[in-house]
Amino acid sequence: MVDRTNIDVEEVQRLVLHGFNYHRTWYLILQVESKILARAFLSNLSRNKKDTAKPEVPVIAFSGKKRSWASGEHKEKSDLSIAFTYAGMDALDLDDGLLREPLPKLANSFVQGAARRSSSLGDTRADTSRQWEPAFKSNRAHIVISIHGNDKDLIKTIVEELKKIDGWKGLSGWSNIQEGKHRGTDQNDRKEHFGFVDGISQPVIRRVHNIQEIEARRGYSIPPFMKYEAGEFLLGHPNEVRENRWREPLLSNKAAKFYGNGSFAAFRKMEQDVAAYRKFIKVTANQHAIPEKYLEAKLCGRNKDGTPLVNAVSSSADLNSFGFRGDADGRNCPIGSHIRRLNPRDDKEVIPRMRRPVIRRGIPYGKEFEEFPDQKRGLLGMFFCASLEQQFEFLMQDWVDETPIREPGANTKDPLIGNHEYNTKNYVIPVVTGKPIEVEGIAKVTRTRGMLYLFYPSRTALSMIAELDETSENFIYKKPDTAVRH
Ligand code: HEM
Repeated sequence: MVDRTNIDVEEVQRLVLHGFNYHRTWYLILQVESKILARAFLSNLSRNKKDTAKPEVPVIAFSGKKRSWASGEHKEKSDLSIAFTYAGMDALDLDDGLLREPLPKLANSFVQGAARRSSSLGDTRADTSRQWEPAFKSNRAHIVISIHGNDKDLIKTIVEELKKIDGWKGLSGWSNIQEGKHRGTDQNDRKEHFGFVDGISQPVIRRVHNIQEIEARRGYSIPPFMKYEAGEFLLGHPNEVRENRWREPLLSNKAAKFYGNGSFAAFRKMEQDVAAYRKFIKVTANQHAIPEKYLEAKLCGRNKDGTPLVNAVSSSADLNSFGFRGDADGRNCPIGSHIRRLNPRDDKEVIPRMRRPVIRRGIPYGKEFEEFPDQKRGLLGMFFCASLEQQFEFLMQDWVDETPIREPGANTKDPLIGNHEYNTKNYVIPVVTGKPIEVEGIAKVTRTRGMLYLFYPSRTALSMIAELDETSENFIYKKPDTAVRH
């Protein structure tokens, strides 16, 4: 039986379950230099309390707190999230019962780290981890603190405030910042750099999201294939196939407590070559005598304004509750398009017949192509899931390379993110009458600049990391006599 009791969402970091609507996110990629100081820092940080009069005080955001909204704006001016790599948890010296016993069995990719896994995810040639930006290379990153807000100066002040917290010197890398910024301020029109509205489709989670309230607000019902069990994203809960490996007695009491309500995430920095993308679209559209916008929509699976290529289930205003059943041969939405392969929804022939949902919290980085064509730009993608192997990696290894529906002519690579440098395949666009359009030589328009596998701990796990759990409730941070180790 799937456990139907409600989930204690106040234990879960808000970024995981709800995200934020701010225009900016800064990711600070830090290293542990002194585990004692770093733990003291974490302990002090987790004690901070929200005070709307002092928006500069860094406070970790958890779900569930009733947000106050005034004229559509958060009363809060910023929020903060925190995550750890395996190397980071090791550097903080978490005990074997939390690390070496459960993790190699249950989350081996997380243990290995993203750099070691990357070659199996299509990151070859120019994308190999050897060529990533330094902060992402071989298990160097330990802790990622993200600050979410609208005001750049406030975010800068929060970084400075973090550096006033006792113990901050136990961490280095404070200038290692990945700056994400949405391209416009309209929350309903957030385009990535190729020009598509992004962030439309998200899974809805039973027992977490108030589905009735969402449906009432949106004015349509969410189809069953967009709803998921919490265990697809949160550890310690049953997933869609009623499996829950992060619980007692499979884990010790301490490990179950630590991992419960946490989530894994792949943080992937993807550079987008807008010039190459535009050239490819122009040349290909010309070659096949089709409009550029038509070609772009057929590659993504949505029009650039986000409207789907198949009819929505409930209303035309609904951008997300459509399925593919009525479009079995892909005449509307090609089987190989980015969205159809990464979420086949109700497609009948999916191989294997298991859903692979991820929660996406992506944000663009870099300046506008029009103004600064020579600068770098792209997407800072964050993909949350309960199993990096079964979800994120499966998508990258399998469905990005070959579609979930293995029909002849459908085994093309993902046109937006596939690695088209080797084993190139034609991209097939079925048409209403006549022969399908076959696009040869898809350009490689995205490049991996770095990736991290992260664990977003629950409130309880965070206090255990900072040694505030009941086994050490008298933990009082004392400044060590010894100097900071470097
Ligand atoms: C620079 C790289 C990428 C770009 C430009 C991009 C762009 C887009 C766009 C425009 C959409 C449609 C809007 C929406 O449904 O929210 C979308 C959807 C999606 N993308 Fe990507 N994406 C990128 C990388 C990735 C990666 C690496 C993954 C791997 C997990 C991924 C997974 C998805 C998923 C799961 C959806 C939602 C599909 C659905 O539910 O309909 N994307 N992406």
